Amino acid sequence: MRSLGVAEPMIAPSILAADFARLGEESEAVGNADWLHVDVMDGHFVPNLTIGLPVVKSLHRATDLPLDCHLMIEDPDRWAPGYAEAGAANVSFHVEAAGDAVQTARAIKTAGALAGLAIKPATALEPLVELLVEFDTLLVMSVEPGFGGQRFMAEVLPKVRLARSHVKAGHLRLFIEVDGGIDLDTITAAAEAGADVFVAGSAVFGAEDPGKAVEALRVVARAGMRHPHGR
Ligand code: DX5
Ligand code: ZN
Repeated sequence: MRSLGVAEPMIAPSILAADFARLGEESEAVGNADWLHVDVMDGHFVPNLTIGLPVVKSLHRATDLPLDCHLMIEDPDRWAPGYAEAGAANVSFHVEAAGDAVQTARAIKTAGALAGLAIKPATALEPLVELLVEFDTLLVMSVEPGFGGQRFMAEVLPKVRLARSHVKAGHLRLFIEVDGGIDLDTITAAAEAGADVFVAGSAVFGAEDPGKAVEALRVVARAGMRHPHGR
């Protein structure tokens, strides 16, 4: 596991912005990334519909990158452990959709993945702090879930700061992941607030060279993480 010192930033390109007909090649183009972020949407929890288990299974065979599955689905208690069994390295599900979040986190971990709790922009973090002892990752949404290419919501950053303060104090041990609207401009604020995993869809797959975009984001995030604000 990780030390409590200043960690290295992790960049997780979101394949939502990739060419779905060429996912194998697209994942090769970001072979220098830390995680590959896979947005699973069911058309119910969010209005959009994307991909599910069969694609995750195929991707797992096609790439060595750890798969970071972000489940934007109803009834994650039923479906989330299957993503861990399919080979995902981290499986995050939304607290707003969960029934028994503790039991689901334990089932994900039993199946061999890290367990992540995802929260929408309007969901408060404070009431969830106790629950987070069961989790390895906190995914803070910085856009409304459902679509890529939206504007970054800086108003969620106090939640990142709060989570970082609990990790610093030793109450929680978490990756703190920010998802939505991350680019070379917004990643600094997220890093300064205490995030250490940065999801980027459009900023990576919309770039001419996605691998270079990953490295550029990493450099800027690293600088931000070394200059924390208000932690
Ligand atoms: C939105 C997804 C994000 C999305 C991010 O619901 O969870 O992962 O792919 O895309 P960008 O980086 O374009 O905001
Ligand atoms: Zn996502």
